Parts: sequence; C-alpha cells; structure tokens
Amino acid sequence: MIRKRVAILISGRGSNMSALIEAAKAPDYPAEIVGVLSNRAAAPGLAIAAAEGIATASLAQSKFPSRDMFEDVMMQTLESWDVDLICLAGFMRVLGEDFVNRWAGRMINIHPSLLPLYRGLHTHERALADGAQVHGCTVHFVTPGLDEGAAILQAEVPVLAGDTPETLAARILIEEHRIYPEALRLLALGAIPATPQ
Ligand code: GRF
Repeated sequence: MIRKRVAILISGRGSNMSALIEAAKAPDYPAEIVGVLSNRAAAPGLAIAAAEGIATASLAQSKFPSRDMFEDVMMQTLESWDVDLICLAGFMRVLGEDFVNRWAGRMINIHPSLLPLYRGLHTHERALADGAQVHGCTVHFVTPGLDEGAAILQAEVPVLAGDTPETLAARILIEEHRIYPEALRLLALGAIPATPQ
C-alpha cells in the first residue's frame, strides 16, 4: 500500500495531531505523518511530534515581512517533506488564497462546531449563549472563506444542563479525536468526492 504523505499544521497543544499520529501507526492506515509545522515555537505539540521521531518546523509569521513570504517558506518546507495532504489541527492563522488554492482538495481542518453553524472563534460560548441543545465538530475541506469548505465528517454531542464552554469543549474534543483520523483515512483512500468547495 502506498501511503499518502501528510503534514500537520498546529499552533498549540496538538491533541488532534496526536490522534492523527496514533491512527497512522496502524499498518493498514493509508497515510503517514511526515512532518509537523507550527507557527509558534512554544506549541507543546512540537515536542510531542519530535518525540515520535517526526520532522518538525517552527515558523513565526511575525519574523517575515509579509504573509506571502511566510507562506512561501511554509510551502518550501512542505515540499521538502514531499507532502501530499495537509491537516490543520488548531492552526490559528488564516491562510492566504494562493496557499489555500494550491492545496485545494488536499487540505482539511477540524472545527469545533457543526458547520455551517458557528464559523470562527469561541464556538462553545456562542452555542451556549444561543441555548443550543446540540453542538459538535466538523472535519471539512479548507477553502479561501473561513470555515466554509465542504464538510467531510461531523459528530454531534448533546449540550447538557450546567455545561460551561470548558465541559462542552472537553466532550467535543473526544469526538474530534475520533472523526479526524477517520476523515483523513477517507481522504487518503480517495473515498471522498472531490468537491472541496
Ligand atoms: C480544537 O478544538 C480544534 O477543533 C480547533 O482547535 C483546537 C485544537 O486543539 N480547531 P488541539 O491543539 O488539537 O488539542
């Protein structure tokens, strides 16, 4: 089996990254994690990836004169890893249109809401403020519009009486760790219709 070569982009703790790394250890998983790139040197996920023997890179956008130059270097790093697919996993930078279009249909993200509900930040706070009964997470293709690409998999969780953003986030995170490896598996197998928009 030829396994797809995957890079994961992170900014923080990297629990979704870890879920993908663990899934890719199965001999029949159709993707391997070949690199982890962070835009924050202090991201705890970088050390976790390095301890797994995975190549890592840390690139701070603030050190580059423009976003285009930052993304050019990011692109070079990904090319040096010979990447087929990209998984965004808590990557807190909005990517430019050129970069996104270059990876159309080959770059996915995990978002903590049932898209198209609650695009952007603070999804749990907003769901609670609305009195939502159900909340969840979505793995979706990345397109130039923020959190607008087609959904690949979603998982619902109930909102319970007394939930705080933290308890809700924790309940959803369990589902994120389940559906993200499954969505990457489907993408790597070519089992998803190529409709990134
Ligand atoms: C997750 O909640 C994910 O849905 C969102 O950012 C968070 C990242 O967490 N995009 P982690 O770094 O994967 O632990």
